[in-house]
Amino acid sequence: MRHVPSIGDLIVAVDFDFGDNQRMDSHSQTHDSIRAVQWQDDHLRLLDQRRLPAEEVWIDCRDAGQVTQAIRDLVVRGAPAIGIAAAWGVAMAARQGVPLEPVLATLRAARPTAVNLMWALDRMHRCVVAGADASALAREAQAIQDEDLAANRHMGELGASLITPGSGVLTHCNTGSLATAGYGTALGVIRAGVASGRIARVYAGETRPWQQGARLTMWELVRDGIAAQLIADSAAAHLMKSGAVQWVIVGADRIAANGDTANKIGTYQLAITARYHGVKFMVVAPSSTVDMATGSGEEIDIELRDPAELLNIGGVRSVIEGAQAWNPVFDVAPAELIDAIVTERGVIERPNSIAMQAMFGC
Ligand code: MRU
Repeated sequence: MRHVPSIGDLIVAVDFDFGDNQRMDSHSQTHDSIRAVQWQDDHLRLLDQRRLPAEEVWIDCRDAGQVTQAIRDLVVRGAPAIGIAAAWGVAMAARQGVPLEPVLATLRAARPTAVNLMWALDRMHRCVVAGADASALAREAQAIQDEDLAANRHMGELGASLITPGSGVLTHCNTGSLATAGYGTALGVIRAGVASGRIARVYAGETRPWQQGARLTMWELVRDGIAAQLIADSAAAHLMKSGAVQWVIVGADRIAANGDTANKIGTYQLAITARYHGVKFMVVAPSSTVDMATGSGEEIDIELRDPAELLNIGGVRSVIEGAQAWNPVFDVAPAELIDAIVTERGVIERPNSIAMQAMFGC
């Protein structure tokens, strides 16, 4: 047992116990073995994604402030996962008799771009306004988590069905079990596509500066026995030119009402490069990532993080002292560069405002 100052208790663990209500079916056991966000009766246990793959360390958050900090510090990351963690933060605060309005506001401000965070908190808030007690709020958080897993499984099948057997795919960032309730969005399509034989080659970009592709996606794929090759982000155009990939498959942090999609920095240049090379571009995200109140990508708040994330590698300064850096961590792929948006409600090919309105309008 060790302690991290400021976020709960820390537990080093090497195995994954899913608990009674999280049993895996046989397909999942071979292609989905990770649950990074786990409610533990009175606190939230998170797999610390800053430390993977070197160490598998679990952090116990024992109040909503610790959950907020875990989201801000990327202990838990990925759009659906931060929404789920925040929902449990609200449920925990209710259990502890903490006033909920300030808790909701603090959690909401933890990160700006992924709308799943706001969506989950709005859902919890509606329950609070309706008079839900702590038990009802815990049930709502569990429902958010369960629905995300079900959506991912469904999207996996829908997305994989678009892919011609024998194809190669390139993915970006981490969109897998670590970033969601389980299975993943874009990585869920890759899991399903590999299982069905439609996907023959998997490539993952490193995803500088935080290395979600190198550290997290490769960790998930190796654990689940899915052969994949890591590429430097800057190798993507060369890879596409080689003909080895037929689809780029990414997740999303916010999809605007016209289909413009905010996702991890580097997604925009992958979309441009894919179109140039005749490679198809697929966005995979649950409907909780769709924000019909945001008209286009121009209106999406792009998170700027500490330049130190670029100036250091593994905590060691790698750039001359005195140098500065600009560190936007998301960008927007315009709808016109997207061939398909896959959600649990269905697939939108060549997205635009009309198709988005038809599927997601009230
Ligand atoms: O900064 P992160 O690691 O939270 O960014 C994550 C991404 O951009 C993912 O691609 C996105 O959230 C989709 S995860 C299913």
